[in-house]
Amino acid sequence: MGLSTPDDAAVWRLSEDKAIVVTTDFFTPVVDTPFEYGAIAAANSLSDVYAMGGQPFLALNIAALPDDLPLEISSEILRGGAEKARHAGVVIAGGHTIKDNEPKYGLVVIGFVDPRKMINKGGLKIGDALILTKPLGGGVTTTAIKQEKASERHIKEVIQWMSRLNKTAGALATEFDLRGGTDITGFGLLGHGMEMADASKVMLSIENSKLPLLSGAHSYAKMGIFPGGAFDNKNHLDKKVRFDEDIEETDQMLLFDPQTSGGLLLGVPQEKLEAFKKRADELNQPAWVIGEVRAGNGIEVRS
Ligand code: CO
Ligand code: CO
Repeated sequence: MGLSTPDDAAVWRLSEDKAIVVTTDFFTPVVDTPFEYGAIAAANSLSDVYAMGGQPFLALNIAALPDDLPLEISSEILRGGAEKARHAGVVIAGGHTIKDNEPKYGLVVIGFVDPRKMINKGGLKIGDALILTKPLGGGVTTTAIKQEKASERHIKEVIQWMSRLNKTAGALATEFDLRGGTDITGFGLLGHGMEMADASKVMLSIENSKLPLLSGAHSYAKMGIFPGGAFDNKNHLDKKVRFDEDIEETDQMLLFDPQTSGGLLLGVPQEKLEAFKKRADELNQPAWVIGEVRAGNGIEVRS
């Protein structure tokens, strides 16, 4: 898997019950503190393995760092990544660094998955409840940080969510034998949701009022602080998303907001939903029900 489908990682079957999952991701700093930047980049790179129901075990650093970057900053970036990987039970066994004007950091990650239990974008079924495991609004909040308009409290909050591993969410999905899922990253909720709707040949019905948002997201959105990617996502998807008329333009834009290290979007069959939510509670894993899967195509967003 990986050449023709839009899935989160490449998968290579080794035997009937074992496949190898390989993925990589890296990006420029999203926050001003190097340790947190490293941790977020690592959590984000690991996420694609969790999104497929896999377990990562080995990683390599990929770094591009300016020549004049003080050593304590570059080592803090790598330390942030290493700590996060350790927390995930993943060994960083080396990597490669090149010189570049703007810092870039991330991981190559290798994991295992049972191919019979794999989660992918094409696995949604009509009737599934749609579950989201992290709040939205990461793009507007990190853009507010770049513009020096973000409050301390909102900075802390977005860092905490972006650094959070999707490990427990992925384990929960595997425990409940789910089949449809992905992680929400650069294409935003609607972009990644659309990939799932297309791959699963279904329609996603999302309830705007049920979407979890970071505390500052709405006010930054009102100020028009959106990253460029939000407009790219909107232009790309506009015709395939139907919004209820009374949803304000700002609220619509928040659904196109690109996320860094966002949560998992999972389809949970209705008969498993109550037990799933109970187990999520026990594991301290947030799981918001944001809508459901219906017959049709594209995405509708209801007020
Ligand atoms: Co992904
Ligand atoms: Co990715």
